[in-house]
Amino acid sequence: MSNSQEIINLCNKYVLNTYTRTPVVFERGKGAYIWDIEGQRYLDFFPGWAVSGMGHCHKRVVKAVKRQLKNIIHVSNNYYSEQQVILAERLSRDSFGGKVFFSNSGAEANEGAIKLARAYGQKEGRYKVISMYDSFHGRTLATLTATGQDKVKEGFAPLPEGFPHVTFNDIGSLKSAIDDKTAAVILEPIQGEGGINIADEDYIREVRTICNIKDIILIFDEVQSGIGRTGKLFCYEHYGILPDVMTLAKSLGGGFPIGAMVVSDKFADVLKPGMHASTFGGSPIVCAAANAVLDAIEKDKLLDNTERVGEYIGKHLKKLKRRFPKIIKEIRQKGLMIGIELYVEGNDVVKACFEKGLLINCTHGNVLRMMPPLVAKKGEVNRAIKILSEAMQNL
Ligand SMILES: Cc1ncc(COP(=O)(O)O)c(C=O)c1O
Repeated sequence: MSNSQEIINLCNKYVLNTYTRTPVVFERGKGAYIWDIEGQRYLDFFPGWAVSGMGHCHKRVVKAVKRQLKNIIHVSNNYYSEQQVILAERLSRDSFGGKVFFSNSGAEANEGAIKLARAYGQKEGRYKVISMYDSFHGRTLATLTATGQDKVKEGFAPLPEGFPHVTFNDIGSLKSAIDDKTAAVILEPIQGEGGINIADEDYIREVRTICNIKDIILIFDEVQSGIGRTGKLFCYEHYGILPDVMTLAKSLGGGFPIGAMVVSDKFADVLKPGMHASTFGGSPIVCAAANAVLDAIEKDKLLDNTERVGEYIGKHLKKLKRRFPKIIKEIRQKGLMIGIELYVEGNDVVKACFEKGLLINCTHGNVLRMMPPLVAKKGEVNRAIKILSEAMQNL
């Protein structure tokens, strides 16, 4: 099979039709670039829905996985394996201590956090997990219920009980939702799918204080904002507080499927043997990949690059906003997590960029989302800005 149309036809015939797909078949990637099957090159500023945060096929990841492949691919979790414990130690040491549970995706990491919250609250009859409107936490039944967007829930009633929603960045809304059944609050410090909405520092500090006073578990969903994306290894570091639980996935595996739930010491013994498990979670291959991602961030100083390139792109986006005041409403950015809110529909811009060889995304109807890889270079930013400005020019 070598022709795009044949592959697309087969996909339509044999793969469940749950995604809206752009008609292109990708074959190869390197750094910030990706090539389709016809050899056409695209600059990928939304690599793999934020999974390929290191860029495509990062050499450290490829090398680590190749090395691991020669030894063993899978070890089940009733035994021990070295890469898993190395990764757990690093995540614990680089965040707020405590212990780690490994899963295969962001939704599963959040599902684990919800189960932990219920298990902790059980003896006092506390089971509610408060989440935010416009949040996104995954597609399992519990995580889609926690998600603050109706569109992901349609067709799946009845939903599990105990997931009240409150307004993001509004402390009064949270205070009035907390009751004697509240076990946890889950939030994304920057809402990704919800349109790159950044939590205020005061808000997060107040949330932390309330959770301390009421013995409520504070869960940070860093599936999208974690692993260097915002210029810090974890986004919570911008806020001068520590969450009790943090969930990770996407970029953590450098393209390999891994999720993680980091649990502070206070709650690390809530889930006992037999209460939670994953067959694939934390396998040697994905942990070797994740260890290579952390190596790359540390040794190649990718947090510095994220900050530097983030500043550079921010400067250019501000210029673009001045040039297109009737198109661009607001730019929201932390490091390389970028939302450009438009006065118009975003999909037309995404399509125009695609045709000119730039991959970006649109969320919430009118927010362009760019998540360039942490290895992005200024030259690549220049190219992206040029294409974006041409696309806006032609609107
Ligand atoms: C903040 C956040 N949490 C959870 C998820 C779900 O992750 P996954 O698709 O790996 O299950 C996503 C996915 O977009 C996300 O952005």
